[in-house]
Amino acid sequence: MAGQATNGWAVPSPAGVPTIAVGNQKGGTGKTTATINLSASLAQGGNSVLAIDMDPQGDLTNGLGLGEAPDDEPENPKHDLPNVTETDDANLLDLLADHRRAEDVPIEDLIIHQDDYEHLSYDLVPSHADMSLARDWMAKSNSRDALKKELEAMTERGVEYDYIVIDCPPDLSVLTDAAFIAARNVLIAAQTHATSRNALDQLIEQVEEVEELDDTEMAIVGLFANMYRQDGQSAKFLEKFEDEWEARVPFFKLNMAVAIQRAWDNGQDIYTWEDTNDQSTERETFAEMADGVKEAFGQLQPKEA
Ligand SMILES: Nc1ncnc2c1ncn2[C@@H]1O[C@H](COP(=O)(O)OP(=O)(O)O)[C@@H](O)[C@H]1O
Ligand SMILES: [Mg+2]
Repeated sequence: MAGQATNGWAVPSPAGVPTIAVGNQKGGTGKTTATINLSASLAQGGNSVLAIDMDPQGDLTNGLGLGEAPDDEPENPKHDLPNVTETDDANLLDLLADHRRAEDVPIEDLIIHQDDYEHLSYDLVPSHADMSLARDWMAKSNSRDALKKELEAMTERGVEYDYIVIDCPPDLSVLTDAAFIAARNVLIAAQTHATSRNALDQLIEQVEEVEELDDTEMAIVGLFANMYRQDGQSAKFLEKFEDEWEARVPFFKLNMAVAIQRAWDNGQDIYTWEDTNDQSTERETFAEMADGVKEAFGQLQPKEA
C-alpha cells in the first residue's frame, strides 16, 4: 500500500493514502489557498497528488479555472476552460449522498487529470453546484462516511496517489465531517486575528466529535497561521498561537502577500505563477508545509549530505 504512516504523528488515513483535510469553519482563512499550494508543493517534489473540492462554492475548482468565470474577471486566461461545476454528469454529491442518481459511477470517473491541462500539476475532484444540497441529501442517507468508502474503494481498485488533500467548506457541516472522516488528519488554516481563538476551540471540539462518530483517532498535522500583518495585533495573536500550538503541531506562518492573491486571480499556484514581486518566502512556506506533512506521515526522506 502506498506508504502508510508508521513513524510520524499523523494517523493512518482509511484509504491507506496519506490524506489531509484543510479545515476551519471560518471563511477566508486560507483553506483553499493552502490546498492549492500545498498540493502544488507536494507535486513539485515528485508526488502524485489528488485534491478534492468539498466546498459547494467551488473556490478550489474555480481557482484552477475549471468553474464558473466571475463576471468581473474576463481577463483570466483560464476562463475558456470548460465549466465542470454545472454539468449534468454524475458529480461528487451523487457519490456522497449514497449514489443519489448515479448507481455505478466510481469516484475516479470524476477526476480531472493533470495530464489534460497544462496548468495543473495534480489531479482534482471538482465541486459542483449541486453540492449545496448536501445537507439534505447526506442527512437522508446518513452518509458521513461516504467519502471515506469511496477513497478506500478507489485505492482497492488500484488508483493510488501519494497524497490526497481535501479542501473543506467554511462550516462544520456534513461535508466537513465527511472530509474529516476520510482524512483523519487535519491541517488548520487560521488567521492571526482575535476572532480565531473561538473558531479554533470549536474546530477542535468538532474533531473530537468526529472521533466519536467514527470511533477513531484523528490528528492535527499542522497549523497554518495565515495573513500575518506587521502590526501589534497580529504579533500578539501569533504569540498566543505559538504558545498554545507550536509545542504540539508544526506551525507555518505566512504574511499577507499580493503574489498569493495574484496567483489565485490567474488560476495558478505560487510555483507556476511568476509575480513582479519576489515570492520566494511564500514558496518556502508551502515547501515547509509539504515537508511538515511528509514528516507527519513518516515519509520525509533524510536530506543528502
Ligand atoms: N497570505 C495571503 N496573502 C494575500 N492574500 C491571501 C493570503 N491567503 C489567502 N489570501 C486570499 O484571501 C482570500 C481567501 O482565502 P481562501 O484560501 O479562499 O480562504 P478559505 O478557503 O479559508 O475561505 C483569497 O482571495 C486568497 O487569495
Ligand atoms: Mg475555501
